[in-house]
Amino acid sequence: MAALTALTKSLGYHCAKRSKISTFSQNFPSHNSRFQTLRTLILEPSLSESVKLNCLSDYDSGIVEVNLDRPEAKNAIGKDMLSGLRHAFEAVDRDSSARVVMISSSVPKVFCAGADLKERKKMTAAEVHSFVNYLRSTFSLIEELQIPTIAVIEGAALGGGLEMALSCDLRICGENALLGLPETGLAIIPGAGGTQRLPRLVGKSIAKDIIFTGRRMGGRDAMSMGLVNYCVPAGEAHSKALEIAREINQKGPIAIRMAKRAINEGIDREMISALDLEEECYEQTLNTKDRLEGLAAFAEKRKPIYTGE
Ligand code: COA
Repeated sequence: MAALTALTKSLGYHCAKRSKISTFSQNFPSHNSRFQTLRTLILEPSLSESVKLNCLSDYDSGIVEVNLDRPEAKNAIGKDMLSGLRHAFEAVDRDSSARVVMISSSVPKVFCAGADLKERKKMTAAEVHSFVNYLRSTFSLIEELQIPTIAVIEGAALGGGLEMALSCDLRICGENALLGLPETGLAIIPGAGGTQRLPRLVGKSIAKDIIFTGRRMGGRDAMSMGLVNYCVPAGEAHSKALEIAREINQKGPIAIRMAKRAINEGIDREMISALDLEEECYEQTLNTKDRLEGLAAFAEKRKPIYTGE
């Protein structure tokens, strides 16, 4: 509870303590609630009710969930939802106790249906331009978070929904997932990072096939082309993601942040400069209490307890 209070304070949110463990956890019966206390931090009502921040506590303290909850539009991203997403990720970015983020949906059979096409129809070209720019920069913010991010995909992840997942470090889907970038079928192109992140992930040739045809793929196909890290039986993506989040959460927090930075910033550099970056990131882990704790725990044959110092 102390951790929750600190997080609530640092995020500046209203904290809605649910009477039961939470309605959210009831939507995911496969959650392992044995070690897990879950609280929902509701974004300020003026921002969006479609995006919720759930902070796990106790054993899972440090794991944060950004939960999409706009059932009437299959989590399509309109202006309201976009401001909610932005607010949520800016809050996560500011919070030093957050160690790993899961992006999930509480809407059955859908992760996110992409841009809100009904809202889009009423926008002028100038409004579309600024909306798409803001969406793109919000997904860049997700990509640039210092801590690992995991997209939990059950059902449809289409257009902007897949682009959001592409801005995450890891993607985990259920077998019944439906992934695709259908924008060319609407006579536009993926405009929130899809044309850039997809080829970097799966290669130029496969990305062109996916974007030119707008084809929707199942979870197994997505797995075979390296678009997702894990494809699990339908309905199990959340528990798999939580398992991975827990593994990450037990590691040295500074090491995880430095590993992410070294990979993300190093990948586009020449090898010599990339190895200099690795050295710089390694240096950040050297004078830490956690490094000494890791060595002590090894010598004492026990699990390390890392504090991020
Ligand atoms: N924008 C706005 N509304 C959307 C939407 C979107 N991207 N996707 C779904 N909806 C709405 C539907 O219009 C429908 O509203 P209605 O009840 O007023 O008719 C409601 O959500 C339910 O959608 P429906 O298609 O009946 O659900 P489904 O379970 O059969 O299919 C999807 C779900 C996501 C596979 C399907 O809705 C779909 O393909 N959506 C479009 C996705 C897309 O092309 N996105 C790319 C945008 S660039």
